[in-house]
Amino acid sequence: MDWTGKAVLITGASSGIGRGLALALAKQGAQVGLLARRRDLLDQIVHEIAGAGGKAIAMAANVEDAAEVRAALEAFASEVGAIDVLVANAGVGASNDPASLDADQVARVLGVNVIGVANCVAAVVPAMVARGSGHLVAISSLAAYRGLPKSAAYCGSKAAVSAFFESLRLDLEPRGIDVTIIHPGFIKTPLTAGRQAQMPFLMELDDAVRKIVWAIEKKRKSYAFPWQLATIVRAGLLMPIFMYDHIARRNSFRE
Ligand SMILES: NC(=O)c1ccc[n+]([C@@H]2O[C@H](COP(=O)([O-])OP(=O)(O)OC[C@H]3O[C@@H](n4cnc5c(N)ncnc54)[C@H](OP(=O)(O)O)[C@@H]3O)[C@@H](O)[C@H]2O)c1
Repeated sequence: MDWTGKAVLITGASSGIGRGLALALAKQGAQVGLLARRRDLLDQIVHEIAGAGGKAIAMAANVEDAAEVRAALEAFASEVGAIDVLVANAGVGASNDPASLDADQVARVLGVNVIGVANCVAAVVPAMVARGSGHLVAISSLAAYRGLPKSAAYCGSKAAVSAFFESLRLDLEPRGIDVTIIHPGFIKTPLTAGRQAQMPFLMELDDAVRKIVWAIEKKRKSYAFPWQLATIVRAGLLMPIFMYDHIARRNSFRE
């Protein structure tokens, strides 16, 4: 795939996977829109990309705020033209102890990981439908497939994103819009840094970014990696509940 001149809007671009995708796609000639709240970090990335001869535009916005997202995406489109690819990547993690469930924290996770994604999709889809082309990409998680211990909010949010995008695929593919759902396992980013619990098959960020770019280029409908953890998770889908519960309870990925 030729990324030259493509307008790619990446949310959560100030850090981790989003930052990695922005640098990789800009290097291949894409015009990248960087959306996140921390303006200073976005400006540094713009500077780095411009220094390497690429084009990037920073937009400080909170994905939970529909008006801010709409304004940011309009500003990006007015600068570079129609948005070809949206990568809905912004997300937050959380550890939940259901015995003292913090409903506000659950709302925050769902607000960023689900409503934030919906705000971005709502802001780009009308123009894509009008043009009959575009590509929506969600960075979901292997945590979307089944519930995991101490992860009620995160698993719930990622299951919602995956189902949301699957529904979008059914409706939008016939109208010329590609839809890709990425289900990563554990990747070394600030999100996972400092975690004490086991993180099987933990991947380097650069390797993960390469895989995500490949899946977008191939217009994969769904892509789960690394294959070892994806295979285990898929096996979990086939297990009867008593067997799944027995194994999942003994394999917490959160302290
Ligand atoms: N790392 C992993 O192992 C892993 C595995 C599976 C899936 N994922 C998913 O991959 C995505 C990226 O995660 P990461 O590991 O790269 O984490 P990260 O380094 O913590 O980056 C998260 C990004 O989301 C942005 N963000 C958070 N809240 C936001 C908000 N309200 N509005 C706008 N931007 C917001 C942050 O920017 P600001 O703080 O500047 O706003 C930051 O750029 C997430 O959706 C995560 O669930 C990660």
